Amino acid sequence: MMTDIFATRVNPDRPSALSGLFINDTDPSAVSFAAGSPNESLFPVAAMKRAFSDAIDDKGPHLFQYQSVAGNDSLRAKLAARIGKWGNVHTTAANILLTVGGQQAIDLVAKAVLNPGDDIVVETPAYVGALAAFDIYEPNYHAVGLEPDGLDLNALEDTLKRHPGIKLLYTVPDFHNPTGITMSVTKREALVNLANKYDFIIIEDSPYRDLDYVASPLPAIKSFDTQGRVVFISSMSKILMPELRTGWLVADGELFDAIFKMRQAADLEACGVIHAAIDAYMTHNDLDAHVTVLKDHYKRQCAAMITGLEDYFPDEVTFTRPTGGFFDWVTLPEGIDAGKLLLSDIQPHAHINYVPATNFYPYRDVHNGMRLCFSGLTPAVIDDGMHRLGDAVKSALHDVEALK
Ligand SMILES: Cc1ncc(COP(=O)(O)O)c(C=O)c1O
Repeated sequence: MMTDIFATRVNPDRPSALSGLFINDTDPSAVSFAAGSPNESLFPVAAMKRAFSDAIDDKGPHLFQYQSVAGNDSLRAKLAARIGKWGNVHTTAANILLTVGGQQAIDLVAKAVLNPGDDIVVETPAYVGALAAFDIYEPNYHAVGLEPDGLDLNALEDTLKRHPGIKLLYTVPDFHNPTGITMSVTKREALVNLANKYDFIIIEDSPYRDLDYVASPLPAIKSFDTQGRVVFISSMSKILMPELRTGWLVADGELFDAIFKMRQAADLEACGVIHAAIDAYMTHNDLDAHVTVLKDHYKRQCAAMITGLEDYFPDEVTFTRPTGGFFDWVTLPEGIDAGKLLLSDIQPHAHINYVPATNFYPYRDVHNGMRLCFSGLTPAVIDDGMHRLGDAVKSALHDVEALK
């Protein structure tokens, strides 16, 4: 068997957390709340086309030469200024590494820190892409739940006391994927204090932080970091276009050097042409003005989803009220498996799709939730889809009652 040759990290018995998330429903009435993609009708295609052309005119053949591992200096300086302004993280280009999406940044930190069997904490539910990245390094997961103001720090401290070897904690503090929850400022500071006390590294993954619909973004967890323990990660995927495959991280000291070494070995450097184009875009266009347009659209879509949850869903169901980002999380009564319900009933009959809770838990042991994404749909489609989903959930709960 060929698989005998594979490294244990391939683990053919465990499919990637990223596989099988979306059902392709070709019915004309189908509404998908599943994919967490940005709305492509809002992509600044013409401005980006000009930016590519400007970058080529500006640099000539040199643009297509090997570039530095950390990536375009000018873009890194612009990103340093942005995170200083919006996140209160005062850093310079020297501490920023451009990566192939935020996804590569997560992978590189995991690669730099984890040996097989090492203890890590993930907030649950957790971003599936992070689970897919961590799985490769064969960690021992500890799941810590979320409260309405972010990670449950009491549960975290209990876990840290019981497992003093924990090395790494992964969190999405701003408009969390998949729940839309945002961590309070108090918890951000307290989390760094715990990292200092219990000696672990924090991955602060924040691709949605610019997409706030109610108030300005909060200071980053990284802004409280005095010991170089926090790696801040963000991305151009949600505020420009995902296929630019441009993410970035901020790290300090030895940790930056370790991540840099992983990056150099992985791909030498990547996407230099794209980074030059993004830099030209940011020079000739107002990125913040573009983000304001995005926020105006997504805010209305978010409001339509919350109204749909209020109007069409039964009282036994609870849901989050995101103030930014792309996602809402619905919790069904205990004992209801949202994955089975999707396959047996909701997708074939109501033609609605969502991502069931199970995918967001490292041990796939929680089933009664669903992630709903509103970013790709108009408010009218959201209203229609939520009406049909709400009715389907009501009748499923009614059937369960009838079986008792
Ligand atoms: C929380 C989170 N982190 C990271 C990513 C990776 O995004 P990208 O690699 O496109 O930057 C995503 C994408 O959906 C995400 O939701």
